[in-house]
Amino acid sequence: MILPIIAYGDPVLRKIGAQITPDYPDLEALISNMWETMYNAHGVGLAAPQVGKAINLFIIDTEAFENEEYPIEKKVFINSEILSESGEKWEFEEGCLSIPHIRENVSRHSNLRIRYQNEFFETFEENFDGIAARVIQHEYDHCKGKLFVDHISQLKRRLLKNKLIAISKGGARVDYKMRIPVTR
Ligand code: NI
Repeated sequence: MILPIIAYGDPVLRKIGAQITPDYPDLEALISNMWETMYNAHGVGLAAPQVGKAINLFIIDTEAFENEEYPIEKKVFINSEILSESGEKWEFEEGCLSIPHIRENVSRHSNLRIRYQNEFFETFEENFDGIAARVIQHEYDHCKGKLFVDHISQLKRRLLKNKLIAISKGGARVDYKMRIPVTR
């Protein structure tokens, strides 16, 4: 089932995702719906807060980048914790399904080490680099209530302000379902 993607401005995108246990209600369906939702919107990653669940869960699939230098990573991350980040910082133009039509360069470390559980709650500790590290950092941020626009300069953010307000009011045209924050 394709779920609506929460648009910028909704408080759920600012919540810190709670740790979950295997008895989290309908977890299997949620993960399967998140895959469907992500592919439908041509995303390379999706975090649970983006479908309205403030929990520490995200998925990535880097296949779209088709870079022979790095392996394709398709994974579910639950209760993840980035243990360390290293390597030179590099800039990459990021976007976000919750913030359509805005792309900005974000500077992040090239390598990271992360501990996480997969969909079967098996624990892993792994290193990632390249595009996979980038997508993980972006999605991990979502689970901490952080968005990529928080990483750009104040000046750039000020220039984006009106666009961001428009998105939060439903002004972005996208070919996937979005949920617009309720304004009173
Ligand atoms: Ni995002």
